[in-house]
Amino acid sequence: MFPTKKFFLLGILQVLFAATAFSENEVFIPVTTANNALVFKVDNNHKLRQCYYGDKLNPSDYPSIQVSTADAFPTFGTSNINEAALRAVHADGNTSTELIFDSYTTEKAGDGVELTTITLKDTFFPFLVKLCFKAYQKDNVIEQWSEIRHTEKKPVMLYNFASSHLFFSDNNYYLTQFFGNWAEEMKMEEVKLTRGQKVIESKLGVRTNSFAHACFYLSLNGQAQENAGKVIGGTLAWPGTWNLTFDVDQLNNLHMISGINPYASQYSLKPNTVFKTPSFLYTYSSEGTGNVSRNFHRWAKQYGIYRGDKTRTTLLNNWEATYFNFNEEVLSNIIKDASNMGFELFLLDDGWFGDKHPRNDDTQGLGDWMVNKKKLPNGLGYLVNEATKNKIKFGIWLEPEMVNPKSELYEKHPDWVIGQPNRPLDLQRNQLILDLSNPKVQEYVYSVIDKTLSENPGIAYIKWDCNRYITNSGSYFESPQNQSHLFIDYVHGFFTVLDKVRAKYKNVSMMLCSGGGGRIDYATLPYFDEFWISDNTDALDRIFIQWGTTQFFPAMALASHVSACPNGITGRTIPLKFRFDVAMSAKLGMDLQPKDMSPEDKEFSKKAIQEYYGIRGIVQFGDLYRLLSPYTNTRTALMYVAENKNEAVVFTYLLKKTITGNTQPLILNGLDPQKTYTVTEINKDPKSYSWFSPLDGKTFTGEFLMKYGLRFTMYNEYDSKIIKLTSK
Ligand code: DGJ
Repeated sequence: MFPTKKFFLLGILQVLFAATAFSENEVFIPVTTANNALVFKVDNNHKLRQCYYGDKLNPSDYPSIQVSTADAFPTFGTSNINEAALRAVHADGNTSTELIFDSYTTEKAGDGVELTTITLKDTFFPFLVKLCFKAYQKDNVIEQWSEIRHTEKKPVMLYNFASSHLFFSDNNYYLTQFFGNWAEEMKMEEVKLTRGQKVIESKLGVRTNSFAHACFYLSLNGQAQENAGKVIGGTLAWPGTWNLTFDVDQLNNLHMISGINPYASQYSLKPNTVFKTPSFLYTYSSEGTGNVSRNFHRWAKQYGIYRGDKTRTTLLNNWEATYFNFNEEVLSNIIKDASNMGFELFLLDDGWFGDKHPRNDDTQGLGDWMVNKKKLPNGLGYLVNEATKNKIKFGIWLEPEMVNPKSELYEKHPDWVIGQPNRPLDLQRNQLILDLSNPKVQEYVYSVIDKTLSENPGIAYIKWDCNRYITNSGSYFESPQNQSHLFIDYVHGFFTVLDKVRAKYKNVSMMLCSGGGGRIDYATLPYFDEFWISDNTDALDRIFIQWGTTQFFPAMALASHVSACPNGITGRTIPLKFRFDVAMSAKLGMDLQPKDMSPEDKEFSKKAIQEYYGIRGIVQFGDLYRLLSPYTNTRTALMYVAENKNEAVVFTYLLKKTITGNTQPLILNGLDPQKTYTVTEINKDPKSYSWFSPLDGKTFTGEFLMKYGLRFTMYNEYDSKIIKLTSK
């Protein structure tokens, strides 16, 4: 039965309503979370319009909303003149799709999660689009995707297939985008959107965050602020090509479309099969970007990352310690040192494999996942045992999607790689990508993981690397007509492999790595415990890269390693304490050769690792509050507050020497104003005088700390402080 009321109330957790016909009465379809509402209306022409997204309204006010004439899901070939969310060409050559409202349902999809599905149907063809919305109540996150299906006699060619279309009618719009390159990922830049289109996208197929991330802030009516102002944060959960289009129309309305990049990806959809788009995740805050980040972090720990409720381990990685140059003895000694210093896991990186073509540099051997007996005569098992003897866990590096042409795998299966016939091989880092659209290749990639883990049951951790993107995008597996499916089918193949891996290996931790931070997204992270954000481990640069990454992704899973100086990439020399203080603000690790450290530095490291264990729970499970941005301040600061607000930890870093001293106050945030907190400096540098000393050990109210703040001078470039707050 179709209700005739003016609006419907949400909040009941069971299936609320299933409408199957249309009435002339006004129909509002709200998708609500604890604080937000996204409201649709079906108009008298049976068209679905998005009429509101923002702070939750009283449903009785919905009829007072001025409804736009913009389609909720604009299609090509109708009166719509804006960018199309959907463009389909039917078998008879008809290029139009005219969608009208058919029905909607709202049902419970887990604890505190509500799924609303709005079905739209074409007025002529048996062609349906479902707009799906999962509303995560307490985190105020909406996950939106679309499902396209038809029962026409022949396939329909899809040219555009967006996940979402959002519509805004405001005074002005500011867009913060995230961009970069290898070793300088996740930089932030804000621009005012002017008439016309601003497109952020990736056409790379794999490792698609190499130059830009599918994340953004959209600030309404002014520039984005940390603790004030209306802002939307969004990110597309998809490791393939992606596109975020911001289109300001002739009336200053903004149309925001997210989805797989339609670029070279037209998809032939057979009858009765569902084309499911990736999820677009977004949240709204009227209290600035800080809230947006916290919404994403909380959401991610429950839904967006593998075992987000589990403590992450510290580790020592041999990559920057040895690169390819190691043997059993060298590694055994590193394992001992790692354990003595207090790390919980040793990670063996690239270079341990290859027989006919040993992997002694990056020119050969990728794809041949048998142990290099010259380097490791007793196999991986020996090293796993060494780790066990030393009471730490063992992890291993794999890059299972890739192959060097100089490998036994390529010699045997040259048709398994992505490339075009009659064109030269296009190599990056001397390697090619295996074509995961091919089920045989999927099986092989799975077997690499399965073989490595089943032959060495002691392996507790995998670093899954991926060091190039797609060029020459042809598939020897896809048919000539379906070559344009490659970008999409690759991703599905990738997930098929990951599903199988996780079905069998639930307790193995996995790090998502892609030549640094080239692949970080919320479709892949549900399989991974942590991620590597950059090969640049220079602590100063890391402050910026971590600042950018944690806008959307939680620090608990952000691997941050202390490395040697001068830094291998930047050549910069930075005090060990500063390097630790930066790494300790996320998930601490190390990437250096312990035997090259002075006894003093080793001692400092041992203590720092123990200090990290003392704050790990707050950093990994607390809420992040950003205090001073490195983009606009000489001193930068951030803090984490435990959920019960009994503990917090503040990190502050001086980026540049200030001759007269930097006195920027740290106005804390997120504390309980009623509680009293004792402030204690941790990870102290025994050698230097601290201007924090007069405050050390003192007690202040949360209110004072959030109004007056912590005030102390910092002088020298690379001064840093970690201050723990404890309330009884
Ligand atoms: C790129 C990764 O980002 C590095 O950490 C390291 O694992 C190398 N690949 C190994 O080739």
